[in-house]
Amino acid sequence: MQYPIYRPRRTRRNETLRRMVRETCLSPDNLIYPLFVVHGEGVRKEISSMPEVYHLSVDEIVKECQECWGLGIPAVILFGIPHGKDPMGSEACDPEGAVQKAVRAIKDAVPEMVVITDVCLCEYTDHGHCGIVEKGEVLNDPTLELLARSALSHARAGADIVAPSDMMDGRVAAIRDLLDEEGYSDTVIMAYSVKYASAFYGPFREAAESTPQFGDRRSYQMDPSNRVEALREAALDIEEGADVIMVKPALPYLDIIAALKDRFDMPLAAYNVSGEYSMVHAGGRLGWIDAEKVMMESLISIRRAGAGMILTYFAKEAARVLE
Ligand code: PBG
Repeated sequence: MQYPIYRPRRTRRNETLRRMVRETCLSPDNLIYPLFVVHGEGVRKEISSMPEVYHLSVDEIVKECQECWGLGIPAVILFGIPHGKDPMGSEACDPEGAVQKAVRAIKDAVPEMVVITDVCLCEYTDHGHCGIVEKGEVLNDPTLELLARSALSHARAGADIVAPSDMMDGRVAAIRDLLDEEGYSDTVIMAYSVKYASAFYGPFREAAESTPQFGDRRSYQMDPSNRVEALREAALDIEEGADVIMVKPALPYLDIIAALKDRFDMPLAAYNVSGEYSMVHAGGRLGWIDAEKVMMESLISIRRAGAGMILTYFAKEAARVLE
């Protein structure tokens, strides 16, 4: 296989040839659309750091899901903005919480759509951390029960998949145990197994009003320098009963996605997070990049690295390009 006998350019000469040798494809089937649910009615309020991403009340969420389903997107993931916040994040477990109400409404209106719920306390606690706080420390074990109860309230509302994003140790097992005990052995767990302490979550924290009021999340989220630890985290979650494992963020961690794909025979998801989204939009608005092309290239790269599911704020835009 040497030049001039072999010329790699031969199979790149036209679009049909390129189609035939293409190794990776992206379909709306791969996409999961994140949505932010608020209380009230008729609410559709744009998040300033995330163009075309909104705080939506339940009635608006239903419309959004109908549109997604029409575009061929199979699933949404819900984040809730509660009425009020307190140290224990009470609304996380409330059957009348924004997320729980939205799940019921979506399952009513678009029953085949898969509804995923983010399980975490940071949107619900007044201190903005993902667990119970005592003397400035985020406590692991006492947090597990709250997370499990929150996941159970989502399953009771009809969630198909619960997705713990808190990074407490042992939370997958705690959630699996309680779900099974309560008769929800079919509820899928998508674990944010490898979640880095990342600055790319900035815009999301505005959207979810979940910026920690003191310190940061480095005592529970992973150090961006670590790769071997990512393999250990994923192995633990699989042993504890995770059905899907996830890497987050996506683009700066494509090597981690590839490593997990190689090591584990499990469905693999990647979260193309808020900062990744906002940067592309910002660059596009400034006229510095072609935002649509950068979006499609980013998504295909995440697929190529090995993720079968991509959680992305681009889901609708990408599905339209793929139509
Ligand atoms: C909450 C959570 C976060 C994201 C998803 N779930 C933020 C965080 O850990 O601070 C980030 C998503 C995004 O940036 O798009 N635990």
